[in-house]
Amino acid sequence: MLPDLDKLREYYAEAPSDIRLEDVDLDRIPSHVSVIMDGNGRWATARGLDRSRGHVAGVDSLREAVTTSVRLGLDVLSVYAFSTENWRRPQREVDLLMHLFATTLVNELPLFHQENVRLRFLGDLDGLPDKTRRVFQSGLDATRDHTGMTFALAVNYGSRAEIARAARQIAREVRAGTLSPDQVDESALAERLYTRGLPDPDLLVRTSGELRLSNYLLWQLAYTEFYVTDTLWPDFSRWDLLRAVASYQGRARRFGGVVGS
Ligand code: FPP
Repeated sequence: MLPDLDKLREYYAEAPSDIRLEDVDLDRIPSHVSVIMDGNGRWATARGLDRSRGHVAGVDSLREAVTTSVRLGLDVLSVYAFSTENWRRPQREVDLLMHLFATTLVNELPLFHQENVRLRFLGDLDGLPDKTRRVFQSGLDATRDHTGMTFALAVNYGSRAEIARAARQIAREVRAGTLSPDQVDESALAERLYTRGLPDPDLLVRTSGELRLSNYLLWQLAYTEFYVTDTLWPDFSRWDLLRAVASYQGRARRFGGVVGS
């Protein structure tokens, strides 16, 4: 998608000393950026606040990330909000997060309409509380006809479970005779993942300095460039996303081949 230059310059006025809009090549903006939003708890604890306050502050960062991604002209922004392992957190924190996901979606629907953003969910929505699932479904319905950026929210998502689910589906189709074993190739598997139809991420951003994937998009990240920042998610701003894109543009992507061949 082509960025609106005037809006973008205004949005990125008053630059900090280390990064400016001119540092990125607007003709080479990644199509799909994915983010592991991490560090909400540490952000809150460092301020003597309850962890939940970190998640609430994280909503503001997420709103800014969506707006920034639209302004930059991304095709897809995906974010990891809740993993299949996150159910192990204290019940109070899980309840707060489920509530926050639902209220945020309702509150942000006008933004999605204004910016023509289409919603997607990655993960097993059947495992969510009824209210959260209902709100997610209405968000899907309300944005189905939008033609701008796709915003994909990974909730109750685990990559190994996703791949196992795709394999199970393939096995059933083979047993039913609707798919032959010879047709089981990479694209057959990719089409049965939650990310069906989306391009693989070009750039993965992880905040709060952790160097691990945490069971996130293991299949889809095969050739993705990684950018890890020590910035905690609630402090992540439009400038951090610009830094990540500038870093990405400085890499030579080889996809297993040789540069320039
Ligand atoms: C990781 O920080 C963050 C989460 C598990 C939840 C992500 C949720 C948000 C950013 C809130 C807004 C999201 C939506 C979709 C409305 P952590 O709690 O693991 O932080 P820590 O590693 O410092 O403990």
